[in-house]
Parts: sequence; C-alpha cells; structure tokens
Amino acid sequence: MCSERTSVLITGANKGLGFEAARRLGELGWMIFLGSRDEARGLAAADKLTAGGANVVVVPLDVTSDESVAEAARLVRQHTDRLDVLINNAGTPGRIVAPADATADEIHSVYDTNVYGPIRVTHAMLPLLRAADHPRVVMVSSGGSSFAVVTDPQQHVSKMHELAYSSSKAALNMITVRYAQALPEIKFNVVTPGEVANHTFAATDMNNHTGQLTVTEGTDPIVHLATIGVDGPTGIFIDRLGPVAW
Ligand SMILES: NC(=O)c1ccc[n+]([C@@H]2O[C@H](COP(=O)([O-])OP(=O)(O)OC[C@H]3O[C@@H](n4cnc5c(N)ncnc54)[C@H](OP(=O)(O)O)[C@@H]3O)[C@@H](O)[C@H]2O)c1
Repeated sequence: MCSERTSVLITGANKGLGFEAARRLGELGWMIFLGSRDEARGLAAADKLTAGGANVVVVPLDVTSDESVAEAARLVRQHTDRLDVLINNAGTPGRIVAPADATADEIHSVYDTNVYGPIRVTHAMLPLLRAADHPRVVMVSSGGSSFAVVTDPQQHVSKMHELAYSSSKAALNMITVRYAQALPEIKFNVVTPGEVANHTFAATDMNNHTGQLTVTEGTDPIVHLATIGVDGPTGIFIDRLGPVAW
C-alpha cells in the first residue's frame, strides 16, 4: 500500500499531455497510476518515467470499456486504499466530419471516449477518491467546448465546422459542474490545455504537432488544478492564463 505518497490516476498517460502530466507529478514524488489502453505503450512510457526516478504503476485502461475500467479500479486498489487525484485526460477528436454529413454513430464513438469515458472512470474511482482526505478530479476539456469561444468570430474554432468533438467537450464541462455541485467533498474542475486568449494549443499527436505551446505549457493548468489545496476552487474552467468563459 502506498499510503504515504499523493496518488494520481491519469487516463491516456502513455503520450502527449497525459504523459507530461505524469512526468511532472512524478517529479513531485507522487505515486503515478499511468493509464494506457495499450499495455505495451503504457509500459514503454512508464520505463521513461521510472528511469527519471518516478514511482509508476501501469494501469491498462480503455475508457470506452466498462470491463477495462472495473479492472483498472481493482488494480489501483491493490496498490492503495485511497486515490488523491484523478485526471480524466484521454480524449479523441474523432474524424472531422461536416455537420451535414455527421451521423449519430459517428458522434457516439467520440462521446464514448470524451463523455462516457470520464463518467465511467469517475464512477469507478469514487470510492477510492472518497477515501482520500482532499480528493481532486481534473477534466481535460478544450477551448472548443466553450460557447463563448465557438461563437467568437475571432477564434479559429468558430470556422471549424464539426459536431462531435466540441459538443462532447461541452457535455464534459456540464458534467463536471454537476459533479462539483453534487459532491462538494471532491474538487471537480475543467481545463483546456490551450491559451484561449491567444488562440493557441499544445503540440501533440492529436494535432500533428501543429500546436504553438509545448506539452509542458499545455499541462500547466492540469498540474495547477491537480495540486490545489483544500481551500482551492471547485467547478471552475481555466487555461494556463486564468478563467475561461463557459
Ligand atoms: N493538445 C491540445 O492542445 C489540446 C487542446 C484541447 C484539448 N486537448 C485534450 O487533451 C487531452 C489529451 O490530448 P493530447 O493532445 O495529449 O493528445 P494525444 O497525444 O493524441 O493523446 C491522447 C491520449 O488519449 C488516449 N486515448 C484515446 N482514446 C482512448 C481510450 N478509449 N481509452 C484510453 N485512452 C485513450 C490515447 O491513447 P493511444 O495512444 O492508445 O491512442 C492517448 O494516450 C484530450 O482529452 C484532448 O481532447 C488537447
């Protein structure tokens, strides 16, 4: 049992922002439960972190599978009797389909990862989170989730015509607010890895590394909300520069 260290489970932590968040929190001495839907990719990522001195347990975890999530909860419980922080980071952009061509099936697959995924994982981890003194959940959303951003003609995303990704992340935002209201003993907050005011995002595989920010910059708001104190906020939406309008 790793009851001494602060513990965190990060979904989709084998690469990109999830991996960088794992690296940074590992440097703080935290116990890292590294979620990866592909175990081999997770083990390869964990090797890099343990080489740097981090404490890492690879957790095979496909957020679209009830069985995988249940098995992940069992595995985490074998190592700890409480979980201090959950970072719901795994996400997919889906195929960018024009709204006129979008089908329910197309959108369902994106929601399965970006909306039902965080609900599956949060629900399964609630008993472990509730056992912690000061539990926190960070939801990794997107600037494209914001009605204020999407309806601002100055924002590139206002001209990116698609239904699935932006609406899935908008749903994630509302889900976070509703969790925050219903479960005040756990802090639930939302981040976007980009800088909304500067129309920037972080370079990862998801955007073919076209982002202007580094993964370290992109994880600033994730690390910030993962490390807030007992007096920290709940039910807020931020990027690394500050509050983001819903
Ligand atoms: N980069 C940005 O600036 C930016 C902007 C807005 C929002 N975001 C959000 O940030 C989060 C991380 O994205 P990223 O930029 O770091 O992209 P990334 O490098 O493509 O990483 C995405 C991660 O999610 C995992 N994943 C996808 N589907 C999964 C599933 N069903 N179960 C478990 N894991 C799954 C991927 O695993 P595999 O390696 O197995 O595919 C990968 O580890 C996402 O939620 C994304 O929407 C990023």
